[in-house]
Order: sequence, then structure tokens, then C-alpha cells
Amino acid sequence: MNSREGLNLAVRILEDEEIITGDEANKYADRRDNRALTTRLVALDILEKIPIKKVTGRVLEVCCGAGDLANKLYRLTDNPNIRATDGSPGLIETAKVKYPHINFSVANVHNHLGRGKNDLVICKDAFHHFSDPQKSLGELLDLVSPGGYLYIFDLNRDCSPNHFQRREQVIVDPNEKRRFIRSLNASLTAVEFAELLRKPEIYEIISSAFIHYPFSFSDEALAKSQDLIAKDETSEYKLNTLSAVYVLQRRKR
Ligand SMILES: C[S@@+](CC[C@H](N)C(=O)[O-])C[C@H]1O[C@@H](n2cnc3c(N)ncnc32)[C@H](O)[C@@H]1O
Repeated sequence: MNSREGLNLAVRILEDEEIITGDEANKYADRRDNRALTTRLVALDILEKIPIKKVTGRVLEVCCGAGDLANKLYRLTDNPNIRATDGSPGLIETAKVKYPHINFSVANVHNHLGRGKNDLVICKDAFHHFSDPQKSLGELLDLVSPGGYLYIFDLNRDCSPNHFQRREQVIVDPNEKRRFIRSLNASLTAVEFAELLRKPEIYEIISSAFIHYPFSFSDEALAKSQDLIAKDETSEYKLNTLSAVYVLQRRKR
């Protein structure tokens, strides 16, 4: 099938636009699909994988949506230096109301301020939006301080059809279901991401890159999340071909 609403794992089909605006932003912020478990597991995964000082490190989450992950990280670390941005004024407005203790602002990844200023840059479930992945990866790395880290969590188009179906079946909100399929079609495979790392513009500025695919959360993270796992209908955390995690370190100089 080669349509926006159907699944096409063979080639990347970009979404119409990157930033979620207008009515779609309201729908995204109010979606019925409960992401609390995944948000907590990703926060725990970041803290396991990134060896920065948890309490004081300068953390920037880009494409933060309604701010749930930034808030979860704050709750787990008490780090006052967590900032989060998104290109959508509507979603940032929602994030500010939900989590007034976090520093949120509107910013587009493609002309973001604060180059080289962040010990950790996070981009969750948004890399698939970028029409030019190589340029965007360079832009994300530009925001990282020398020796700092970039953590990317995203869908993986090359997932097992079984995992795709199991996730799709439990999304209750039809709008969210369509978004999931569009996002999956637009996502990179882990192999496509690995190819970006071989571009001189990228490999010359990083000192290491780890690709976690198939991706699983650690036993420790799952043990700390038993309360949410008990309420979770999706078991998404078990669908380990559906997502990939990329951790890149920027060269010290
Ligand atoms: C699928 S949502 C994920 C939001 C959040 N990270 C989460 O996991 O719930 C993707 C987000 O990326 C934002 N986005 C996409 N392209 C962007 C860009 N070029 N600059 C800033 N934000 C962007 C969208 O506005 C949207 O909020």
C-alpha cells in the first residue's frame, strides 16, 4: 500500500508538515492514548544511558510537545536546568499551563538559539518529522556542548508487522491512530540512521554513536514502573522493533 493512511514500510513517506499547529495541536495535547508509561520509561532510560551530572547538567528537550517528558525528568532529578522547546505555540502554551515549574519556550529546531550550550539534548518521537534528516541531525548536534550528548528516541519504520499491529490495535483515538501510521511511515530505519553517521559533516563532530535497536527498556526501569505497567493496555514496552534509541556524543573539541 502506498498511501498516507496505510502502512508502507518500504520507503519513507514524509508527513505534510513538521510542526503540529492549530486544531491538531489541541487534539495532540488532549489525546486519549495514555503515554504515561512510555514517558516514564524513556526518562529512566535517558538517566541510565547518559553519564552527565543528573542534578546540574544543562538539559534541553527539543520538540517537547506538551512537556510530559521534561516534567518527568525534572521529577526524577530535581535538576533546575531543564529547558524544553517546541515549534508549536499551541503545545508550548499547554505545556506551560501543565508544568509551570519548567522553562518552556517556542523554538524551531532549524533555527534554534543556544548552540553548543547543552550537556544533553533530547529529541523524543520527533525525528521522523524532519524532511532533511542529515541537516536536522547536524542542527541537533550543534545544540550540544563539546563532550555533551544527544539522545534520540523515535519510531522505526523497519519494525515487525506484528509489533505494528499490536500497537495500532490498542490506540483508541482514531486521529491518534492515523498519526501513528503517518509517523511510522515517515520514520527512518536504524540502518538509514546509521548511514547518516557516515556523512563527514556528522562523523567529524561526534566521538561515539550507539544505536539501540531492537530497543528494550532495562529490567531496572521496568521494575520501577510496575504500577503503570499494571494499568497499561498496550504493552508497548515489549514491542522492541517499533522504536530505536540513538545516543551520540559530541567531540570535546
Ligand atoms: C509526535 S510529537 C512528539 C512530542 C513529544 N516529544 C512527545 O513525545 O510527546 C512531535 C513534536 O515535534 C514538533 N516539531 C516537529 N518539527 C519541529 C521543528 N522543526 N522544530 C520544533 N518542533 C518541531 C511538533 O510540533 C510536535 O510537538
